[in-house]
Amino acid sequence: MTYEFLWFEGLPFPDFGFSSAVMKEACTKFVIKDEDTVMVSYPKSGTHWLIEILCLIHSKGDTKWIQSVPTWERSPWLETDLGHKLLNESERPRLLTSHLPFHLFPKSLFTSKAKVLYLMRNPKDVLVSGYYFWTTSNLTKKPESLEQYFKWFIQGNVPYGSWFEHIRGWMSMRHRENILLLSYEELQKDPRSTIEKICQFLGKKLNPEELDSVLKNSSFQVMKQNKMSNLESSDLSVDLMCLSFMFPGICGDWKNHFTVAQAEAFHKVYQEKMAGFPKDLFPWE
Ligand code: A3P
Repeated sequence: MTYEFLWFEGLPFPDFGFSSAVMKEACTKFVIKDEDTVMVSYPKSGTHWLIEILCLIHSKGDTKWIQSVPTWERSPWLETDLGHKLLNESERPRLLTSHLPFHLFPKSLFTSKAKVLYLMRNPKDVLVSGYYFWTTSNLTKKPESLEQYFKWFIQGNVPYGSWFEHIRGWMSMRHRENILLLSYEELQKDPRSTIEKICQFLGKKLNPEELDSVLKNSSFQVMKQNKMSNLESSDLSVDLMCLSFMFPGICGDWKNHFTVAQAEAFHKVYQEKMAGFPKDLFPWE
């Protein structure tokens, strides 16, 4: 079977679990409420990790919810067929996820007081993570090599379009009070302080034991064992879905994959596309 992209508003999306009709509805009509918590990221930035943390914070470290309900039901993806349906049926306050670029996100967000967490990651690691993920999944068009995927990524011909456009768009929100910028790198470096920062942003007070539980149960080792956080709970066949969301999760793994020429080419494109942003906004070199 050949897998292709689903094209919507000139951008490629996965061709499984998505439809133009639902995406159109989600992007133009979905109403974000003040009580919602919105988690936005470009794919492969650590989305599932942050969702686990948010769910554990919500339940004050109690693991019942994360162990009984799959990730995509706890924090549905707004733009997917299933996620959109679940969100419309769910009672407030909702936790919702999206990988949508800023310009396609429902405009109701901008007049709401919903709290937004934008998670970013070193784009070179996003590229490598995406290459392995889209190659082992049957959700969309597969790259034949890292070399080919590298080109697609730079051109924005990958699911959800250009990483550069994604981050540039969402960064325009960064001075608003209701947005918290987070990075995969700071979560790796100091998960406890980062979780505390998230709690403060969400106005959640956790005691030290509760915080310990959030930390422990969102760790890579524990998440990998949780059937509700990896794909083992999926009733979709392995043929259709991907193998895992959980690879080694290494910061700087791109160094083991990029050639010197690729690293230089990426650097050049990065400098051009990210010109104008303060360097200390991003925690990667
Ligand atoms: P790698 O592919 O680099 O290993 P997303 O959830 O946005 O698809 O991101 C997937 C990336 O997050 C994968 O990175 C995965 O290993 C990493 N990840 C998932 N859970 C994690 C955790 N608890 N701790 C650290 N990394 C995690």
